[in-house]
Amino acid sequence: MKAAVYRRFGPPDVLGIEEVEKPAVGDDDVLVRVRATSVNPADWHALTGTPLIARPAFGLRRPKDERLGNDFAGTVESTGKNVTRFKTGDEVFGATSQAFAEYVSVRQDRGIVSKPENVGVEEAASVGVAGVTALQALRDHGRLQPGQRVLINGASGGVGTFAVQIAKALGADVTAVCSTRNVELVRSLGADRVVDYTKDDFARDGEPYDLMVDIAGSRRWSDCRRVLKPDATLVMVGAPKGNALLGPVSKLIAIRLASVGSKRRVVFFIARITTEDLQFLRDLMAEGKLKPVIDRRYELSQIGEAFRYLGEGHARGKITVTVS
Ligand SMILES: NC(=O)c1ccc[n+]([C@@H]2O[C@H](COP(=O)([O-])OP(=O)(O)OC[C@H]3O[C@@H](n4cnc5c(N)ncnc54)[C@H](OP(=O)(O)O)[C@@H]3O)[C@@H](O)[C@H]2O)c1
Repeated sequence: MKAAVYRRFGPPDVLGIEEVEKPAVGDDDVLVRVRATSVNPADWHALTGTPLIARPAFGLRRPKDERLGNDFAGTVESTGKNVTRFKTGDEVFGATSQAFAEYVSVRQDRGIVSKPENVGVEEAASVGVAGVTALQALRDHGRLQPGQRVLINGASGGVGTFAVQIAKALGADVTAVCSTRNVELVRSLGADRVVDYTKDDFARDGEPYDLMVDIAGSRRWSDCRRVLKPDATLVMVGAPKGNALLGPVSKLIAIRLASVGSKRRVVFFIARITTEDLQFLRDLMAEGKLKPVIDRRYELSQIGEAFRYLGEGHARGKITVTVS
């Protein structure tokens, strides 16, 4: 089968499409013919081997795993003998490792759910990492309750476009922060108010929030604190790429240190893909309450282009890659 392979860290050119062996299918596994996948900043960090502090995970001198990718959507090709939840021909989506390939093998209880009929294959392929991250940020780490006011900074990217819609589905009052060209998009996703960060400063807005989900990581703690109620929570999801050694971690450390002594809760987390959360997102999509936003679609042979665009940091929703 064809798969994206890289043998050294570097720019998107180090990624090539090669023939590799199809993955093995254990008794509890589902073999999926991947029809589409999507790129995430985590893939970009693994590709470039940055920040250096993450090298023990990525590989010290060369990639530990020469294959990349997480999100997938496709059709079940075959199943192991213990698999009861899926059968050949089912349309599915989820997240696993080594997903930039024609096939993935996924344990039936880990990161794979059926695709709703009303959702396209690229749309489903865009959900995994970004959708689960947005859900866990709002519901689990942000403990968002119906009627609460939430501020979402970085509302127009992969995670942000899911976060705005999920926050509305959870019954929140949503203020979303993005740049001028994305204001209408973000409004169309259901945001009650949209702040254009190129013209207005949400930190001067005055009205306090119960929760701030900071996906862009573009502001200092003093700005965040100003808009948070005394018992509010700041959930840090992401931050700018930062320096080569610490990358986004430097920003997260700075906020953590600056917030010491504050009554407000400050949380950073790494999303963990679960079947239950994919199912939750699946149900929202089936009910028409969650519609993935796709900015650009590439072919597998153009995956380097997809990474180049992702690396610019200005995607409007998700960037998908059609595989077959
Ligand atoms: N903690 C986790 O488990 C986890 C999981 C997934 C992602 N992340 C992190 O979350 C971040 C976002 O991921 P993503 O997939 O959403 O990335 P993305 O799709 O590349 O997001 C880019 C978006 O960020 C917006 N943006 C850039 N600068 C901004 C600013 N100053 N203020 C507001 N918005 C700004 C851009 O809008 P403009 O073009 O208008 O600037 C663009 O729409 C990354 O740092 C990623 O590593 C963390």
